[in-house]
Amino acid sequence: TWTMLNIVEDAVEKVRETIGPKGRAICGLSGGVDSAVAAAIVQRAIGDRLTCVFVDHGLLRKGEAEQVERDFVAATGVKLRVVDAADRFLKALAGVTDPEAKRKIIGREFIRVFEDEQRAIIAAADAPVDFLVQGTLYPDVVESGGGTGTANIKSHHNVGGLPDDLKFTLVEPLRTMFKDEVRRAGEELGLPPAMVWRQPFPGPGLAIRIVGEVTRERLDILREADAIAREELSRAGLDREIWQCPVVLLADVRSVGVQGDERTYGHPIVLRPVTSEDAMTADWARVPYDVLERISTRITNEVREVNRVVLDVTSKPPGTIEWE
Ligand code: XMP
Repeated sequence: TWTMLNIVEDAVEKVRETIGPKGRAICGLSGGVDSAVAAAIVQRAIGDRLTCVFVDHGLLRKGEAEQVERDFVAATGVKLRVVDAADRFLKALAGVTDPEAKRKIIGREFIRVFEDEQRAIIAAADAPVDFLVQGTLYPDVVESGGGTGTANIKSHHNVGGLPDDLKFTLVEPLRTMFKDEVRRAGEELGLPPAMVWRQPFPGPGLAIRIVGEVTRERLDILREADAIAREELSRAGLDREIWQCPVVLLADVRSVGVQGDERTYGHPIVLRPVTSEDAMTADWARVPYDVLERISTRITNEVREVNRVVLDVTSKPPGTIEWE
């Protein structure tokens, strides 16, 4: 629509004014829609003077890293540095089973890798890199008591907690937008639909959907099962109806099964489809039995290590949406 086109053009113009004709910026991409749209707007404003960083922690779902590295770059022409940090994250997570410990480790490693990358970009640039792009939305601004939301860009506020050699001015082109506006802006900017319409997915990724220690093998199992569930839910046209559907691997649980003439001793996969307005409360989604059956049959046929699929029928509260 022309209004969305205007909103995008307006945001691009404001970024151009803030950063100026020579300024340089850095933006971290997560695979989610907010950082993607923020980056695409800034790319339109300053082109190659923006460098995007994608820290691939190895905990994303099937196809999500490629979406960033290939499809997003093709759609926007953004200059991107990819850091394959899967080994580093797996090493840091080795032996860890406590959910909060997993979150803390992933957050800490993420900041370290991102800061290393920022330093490398600053060292390689022939001009100062003063700006850091963030995909902060209007509800985040309100929640943190950040004012009226009339300014599109919050200028000259250093990012809290950064080391002295990494002080930036924040650029937040989505500061006046709600999620649905961000998605429409993403469409307007020609971003990959799978990114624009991605359901909520936690920053710590699949690590908090493996109950037990996170290993490469377990991530591979969960990634396959998750891809099947997502594919069948989409095919059934349930993407808009369902808020999200965590797929969880009970890695330390085994149960006996039978396949052909053979006894199996495999892992259960939990499906956790929920409906919700804001993730504060949720209800378990009444997914049609035939869709559940297709998901169950395919997962047990196609993922060798899984011999049982179970459905979580707990509302929130008392259950949370994620298992960890
Ligand atoms: P819970 O499990 O608390 O989840 O009902 C509520 C919503 O938040 C997402 N979630 C997270 N998002 N980092 C994130 O970025 C996290 O550590 C995290 N934990 C939960 C979850 O997917 C749901 O949408």
